[in-house]
Amino acid sequence: MSRDDIPPYHVPVLVDQVVAAMTPAAMTPAAMTPAGTTPGRPSVVLDATFGGGGHSRALLAALPSLRVIAIDRDPDAAGSAAGLARVSLHQADFRDLETVLAKEGVDELDGAVFDLGVSSHQLDVGDRGFSYRSPGPLDMRMGPDARFDAAHLVNDLDRDELARVIRRYGEEHFAGRIADAIVAARPIGDTARLAEVVAGAVPARARDHGHPARRTFQALRIAVNDELAALEPALDAALRLLRRGGRIAVISYHSLEDRIVKRRLAAGAVGCTCPPELPVCVCGGVAELRLVSRKAIRPHDAEIERNPRARSARLRVAEKI
Ligand SMILES: C[S@@+](CC[C@H](N)C(=O)[O-])C[C@H]1O[C@@H](n2cnc3c(N)ncnc32)[C@H](O)[C@@H]1O
Repeated sequence: MSRDDIPPYHVPVLVDQVVAAMTPAAMTPAAMTPAGTTPGRPSVVLDATFGGGGHSRALLAALPSLRVIAIDRDPDAAGSAAGLARVSLHQADFRDLETVLAKEGVDELDGAVFDLGVSSHQLDVGDRGFSYRSPGPLDMRMGPDARFDAAHLVNDLDRDELARVIRRYGEEHFAGRIADAIVAARPIGDTARLAEVVAGAVPARARDHGHPARRTFQALRIAVNDELAALEPALDAALRLLRRGGRIAVISYHSLEDRIVKRRLAAGAVGCTCPPELPVCVCGGVAELRLVSRKAIRPHDAEIERNPRARSARLRVAEKI
């Protein structure tokens, strides 16, 4: 394989849109920051999902005085940060972002970026076990902190529990049939065999939307990494730490994630809920956020053509008020 054949660690998605979203927040001169913030401090953005560092690099290029505190669960991400000035990368779960920021002496953020899900590197390296396209062990752990691997779910869960995982996290219509097929084929040793078993359980008439094992692999990956449980506490923590005028940008890739993001940001944007006929507010509700765009921002066709993994991306941006 020549150097040119080595795939990039990750091709970042919606980069220009993330930079445009973050720039007004991170450009605010420290002298103009609201009372209570430290005058003269550099702008600080949290990149909660560093991966190959594509979003961090673009933000650093756009904002020469920016400091990035970065997090990734995956130890492989460290290589992408090597030699990168103004970035401190921590191997951690983003649900622990407050601890990471405290270690860095940061108690206030100008921006936070979450680019959820898996990196291309995780999908492309067969040994990580994420892909139904490359043979590999049934692993799927983003980092060593995961409590179990995919082999445990595939080979040890009882049939109903396995069906529940596949239905809930894969939104898979044929979860029961797939769980039956997996249980009948145990022990399943690797991703190639799992993909084959799942494909055999999905009726031919339902096979027109991508690989028949896509949803099952997504479900197992989400369960192994407890992805959805980490998201809401991490958003809460990032929003607590954002200064007034600071912005949060979150890219999600499937409806389960996007629903959590959309609800959390929308809940923050709700102010007084008193009926309009009341002359004064009695509920005490005050909005903490302004939604920068009401609808999710989607990639242009040209980006999807260049990078098909961008297809399902949705970016939501909110500003602390
Ligand atoms: C889509 S990639 C991010 C790509 C990155 N924005 C770039 O430009 O290269 C998602 C990354 O988030 C990491 N990740 C996912 N969930 C995480 C969590 N709960 N805590 C920390 N990192 C997480 C994954 O390991 C992966 O590297």
